Amino acid sequence: MQFGSLKLETNLFLSPLAGYTNLPFRLVLREVGGLGLTTTDLVNARSLLERNPRALKLIESNEMDSPYAVQLFGAVPEEMRDASQYLESIGVNSIDINMGCPVRKVCKTGGGSAMMTELDKTAHLVKTMVNAVNIPITAKMRLGWDDNNITAPNLVRALEDVGVKAIFIHGRTREQGFLGTVNLAGISEVVAAAQAIPVIGNGDVTTPESAKHMIEVTGCQGVSAGRGAFYNPWLFKHTDHYLKTGELLPDPKFLERVRVMRRHFDLMIEVFGEERGCLMFRKVAPWYAKRFGPVKMFNKRVVKISNRKDFELTLSDYLEWRNQFVDSDGELIERYRQGPMVPTFMQDDELPEVGKNEIPVPKGPVEIW
Ligand SMILES: Cc1cc2nc3c(=O)[nH]c(=O)nc-3n(C[C@H](O)[C@H](O)[C@H](O)COP(=O)(O)O)c2cc1C
Repeated sequence: MQFGSLKLETNLFLSPLAGYTNLPFRLVLREVGGLGLTTTDLVNARSLLERNPRALKLIESNEMDSPYAVQLFGAVPEEMRDASQYLESIGVNSIDINMGCPVRKVCKTGGGSAMMTELDKTAHLVKTMVNAVNIPITAKMRLGWDDNNITAPNLVRALEDVGVKAIFIHGRTREQGFLGTVNLAGISEVVAAAQAIPVIGNGDVTTPESAKHMIEVTGCQGVSAGRGAFYNPWLFKHTDHYLKTGELLPDPKFLERVRVMRRHFDLMIEVFGEERGCLMFRKVAPWYAKRFGPVKMFNKRVVKISNRKDFELTLSDYLEWRNQFVDSDGELIERYRQGPMVPTFMQDDELPEVGKNEIPVPKGPVEIW
């Protein structure tokens, strides 16, 4: 897999998830393995030019997070050009343009999904960026504004002509928001529209099998996952292995899950400091815990941690309590696994089911987002 001259080790990508795809998360995914390229949350070009501290924090990276892309949004060609040059000058490997964000705040300035409605203007903006840097410029889009305006295939042709090096396509329209299922036929049309650049399919990939299915049905050259990676950080490693060998790797053991969660916590504190890192980790830890088995007492405490000591104590108390149900590898003894015989005090029925789309997405008519 190559984006222009940028060589990538796998054809698997992390989709930007504003509020989630921060440096600690990207580093954890890389360490687990399987990823070809990571991407930051979307960042406003003008804020970068103004060196807004929040924007600079969004693009923070280090040598372990390589190669990585920054996702830019904006509709002013000069700002997008200057921001691209700045990103290239600080070592960013690739720049992705957000053409899919359905949120009104982004669209009303002419950015995000609005870019899909004005092909000439968008092609001009992209050309300005492509001419200004040597690193690849890519675009991430939806199928179109709504079912009556499926503009992605034409847009892809126009963007390839002006030098875009790859396309990420989320198989929904702007109007759809996050509803319904991903339209694989729509992704196929985008794949067919591209002449030589890779098209990366995106939407609802949560397992190695669903990634393979998307590739087989649409002919896309790679797959990008957002929410699925948050639910399961092993997704890319297992998908890469499955695509290469046809073999499904076993789920990670409990102790490996705890090790990776701890590493995520350490990185969170390293990057955001103890106070903020702990606050942010409150929403991360329960995701790891979903596959720990009985976990109510851990979750109740971990969503209140304020410092490292709170976390360590919460975890060690939990591990000690959990010991009564496990074998020497930390795996639940047969009679405590899910099933009718599991005592009620172990059932975490108020917790969301594993694997559901639980990352909150905007709800209601897309017009009011
Ligand atoms: C909370 C959240 C934040 C998102 N932020 C971005 C973003 O910053 N840029 C972008 O292009 N897409 C963003 N998306 C869309 C995702 O990148 C992706 O296209 C979509 O979630 C479908 O893929 P998935 O099913 O693998 O998550 C976001 C989605 C969610 C749920």
